[in-house]
Amino acid sequence: MCGIVGYTGESRAQEVLIEGLSRLEYRGYDSAGVAIREDDGIHVVCRKGKVAELAHTLGHFSLTGTCGIGHTRWATHGKPSEVNAHPHTSCDGNIAIVHNGIIENFAELRDELALRGHVFSSETDSEVVAHLVEDNYHGDLVEAVRLSTEALVGSYGIAVVCAQEPDVIVATRKDSPIVVGYSAGDAGSAAMRGSFVASDIIAMLDATRDVVVLADGQIAKLTPNGIEYFDEQGRPCEVTHTHIDWDLDLAEKGGYPDFMMKEIHEQPRVIRDTLAGRMVGGRLEIDEFDLSPEELDLTDRVYVIACGTSYHAGLIAKNLIEAWARIPCEVEVASEFRYRNPIITPTTVVVAVSQSGETADTLAAIRDARVKGAKVFGITNVLGSPVARESDGVIYTKANKEIAVASTKSFIGQVVSLTLLAMLFAQAKGKLTTAQVRLLFRELADTADQVERILSDTDDIREAALACKDAKSALFIGRGIGSAVSYEGALKLKEISYLHAEAYAAGEMKHGPIALIDEGFPVIAIATKSPTYDKVVSNLQESRARGATIIAIATEGDEDIKNYADHVIYIPKVRDAFSAITATVPLQLLARFVALERGCDVDQPRNLAKSVTVE
Ligand code: G6P
Repeated sequence: MCGIVGYTGESRAQEVLIEGLSRLEYRGYDSAGVAIREDDGIHVVCRKGKVAELAHTLGHFSLTGTCGIGHTRWATHGKPSEVNAHPHTSCDGNIAIVHNGIIENFAELRDELALRGHVFSSETDSEVVAHLVEDNYHGDLVEAVRLSTEALVGSYGIAVVCAQEPDVIVATRKDSPIVVGYSAGDAGSAAMRGSFVASDIIAMLDATRDVVVLADGQIAKLTPNGIEYFDEQGRPCEVTHTHIDWDLDLAEKGGYPDFMMKEIHEQPRVIRDTLAGRMVGGRLEIDEFDLSPEELDLTDRVYVIACGTSYHAGLIAKNLIEAWARIPCEVEVASEFRYRNPIITPTTVVVAVSQSGETADTLAAIRDARVKGAKVFGITNVLGSPVARESDGVIYTKANKEIAVASTKSFIGQVVSLTLLAMLFAQAKGKLTTAQVRLLFRELADTADQVERILSDTDDIREAALACKDAKSALFIGRGIGSAVSYEGALKLKEISYLHAEAYAAGEMKHGPIALIDEGFPVIAIATKSPTYDKVVSNLQESRARGATIIAIATEGDEDIKNYADHVIYIPKVRDAFSAITATVPLQLLARFVALERGCDVDQPRNLAKSVTVE
């Protein structure tokens, strides 16, 4: 998704920016651009498509400027196009900005700025930043940026250049990363002298390893000779310098030992990004889901079709769609859906969920459903993917590119998107009031912090993993949403550790799986505080009586559960509807720890592919 780079120094900015943007390509994007300060002002060059195309186009110009900013864009507001690509400029062309994140109040700001005579040329939320800085510029770019951010609601990482301050870049952030660094250069190596800014350390690692990760509200003023730092009030401030000693491989993993761990840790960000901009004027809005309020209200059947992990996200959605919107919802693996004759009427909505957006079975099921007259909406992570193209509408999860084969952050993005969809149906059908939707939305947003807490202390999960590592098989159980979570937990474990695992609705234990249990057999239970908590506890007792080693995912404060479990992994208390988000995270970590104990490659498990384009 979006990436920012910037450089001011002695070398030609063009090359430095292209190199930095290339390093950010792995994040996925649809267009790229640079703004370079030349003697006659700021020159902006943007291209739809790849960084290589931008580099090719730049080859036709002879830009020699040594100060500039660059961006790779992943469309949110406005389609992928040259006009919507960053950098965006002010009316007079003297200010150019690049922005990551979402400006939630951009529509109000744009209206206000338009009244003051500003003319907008893109459909993006980001362009308002250039116009705001233009309005606030009175000879001091730092102050202009600072004043402009006071007006912004939402998340942002921003870098700004200004024609009047030829070798200055100003950068700041809120809830979107910005890293800066200075290099004095090294005559003996290729390292260049100058100051660098990026949204990801990896983009500047060749140039400098001494970096400052800006805190929210901090402002950096970059010049060829160094970087000054200011706080939210514009006063000079102290910052923490970090020395990065990772190699490039580790850098791509963000300092984590593997992509899976990196992606698990990205989940709080995925939750925040997926929710950003969805609450408009106190009402939930999902523009991409372009059914009219009447069509939403008339919807009387929902199918969720998907494969693998995405199917499990669908199982969670079923609980919410039926509970909140009271619409019957069936969840089906795509490879089955397409070979039977499901009941589809003009008031049926099919939601196709696919991380990669190119799973063959899901695509075939989409085609089939559309032929039968259903409206089909895709939920995918990959812009312009076949699922996106072949659906009537598409909601993009904000997971960024997922590299580890076993899906983690994409799953969380799907669950959050589907949760919003359930709320949207309920809002349209009048089953939830606007106030109830707002409350749910706030609690859903809180899960980002709760997941962060889970990730901050994983000792109990590591310890539980030791209890599983030598097992031949494991059983995951839960009820309600907990049963859907247990399916995902079992899949994650078998995918990456090759340990056989099965998941069952806990009530089914006595109808077969209990026969498997003997001394030391691991039973992993979703035993969070829910309406069926007591029933799950009974299942734990039955398992323990037969010698099982019990690992319970439980709600913080539940001391009683220790009487029934050998290992307790506590997670913060959340509404049962949102427990899928918090309960899945420890299971992802459990699978990873078990896999590492068993010497497995957690990022590239044998026999599995990230995207399955065969039927
Ligand atoms: C493969 C991947 C899984 C994924 C499944 C469905 O099996 O290894 O992680 O859940 O495909 O993929 P999709 O891209 O459609 O979500």
